[in-house]
Amino acid sequence: MRLEQILFTQGFGTRHECRGLIVNGHVTINQTVVEDPQSDFDVNGLVFSVDGVNWPYVEKAIIAMNKPTGYECSRKPLHHPSVLSLLPAPLRNRGVQPVGRLDEDTTGLLILTDDGALIHRLTHPKKHVSKIYRVTAKHAMTQEMFGRLLEGVMLDGEREKVAADDLVQIDDYVFEMQITQGKYHQVKRMVAAVGNRVSALHRVALGNYHLPDDLTASKWRFIRREELI
Ligand code: URA
Repeated sequence: MRLEQILFTQGFGTRHECRGLIVNGHVTINQTVVEDPQSDFDVNGLVFSVDGVNWPYVEKAIIAMNKPTGYECSRKPLHHPSVLSLLPAPLRNRGVQPVGRLDEDTTGLLILTDDGALIHRLTHPKKHVSKIYRVTAKHAMTQEMFGRLLEGVMLDGEREKVAADDLVQIDDYVFEMQITQGKYHQVKRMVAAVGNRVSALHRVALGNYHLPDDLTASKWRFIRREELI
């Protein structure tokens, strides 16, 4: 693929802007400045650098982010900055968007991508993609509460009960809950339905991908589709 086209597909601006970056010496490949926008490269495994920042060529971008509290998942946030503001411009330019939503005060694993088919695959209710949340409850959890979460609870506006697929108790207040649906405020509403309240919510996994320990709050990285589903 021509270098100009490579930059264009990776979100570095209009074709004209991409050409400008190249002819003005901002782009290096294998530590060599490439000033010819028409030079051809095999994109397989290609890493290019713009102003000293390395970028892997990816046909579709899949990003894992550790969402901090105080950010909204919407493109046009109302009260807080968007999670998209934590990403560099080329990723925003190429249309990367969150897969589903985490509440403003929820932290942890957020997947973002510009692959529409992948968003559909991960969010379609019939696909039952698992999500694991670490829940901190306001009051101590009882065995009865856990039992009811596993059995299923009726949430306002829903026609069927929603149940946890798995629960792992960490201490009196903290537990991990696995669910496969993605209803609005689902975890908070489920915990409220059994008579408790969520005081902190952190997503630790989505599909097969677990938030890595070294991906600290606000950080993000490229991941491969095979790591997710
Ligand atoms: N359930 C919630 O209640 N909030 C989230 O952010 C995610 C799941």
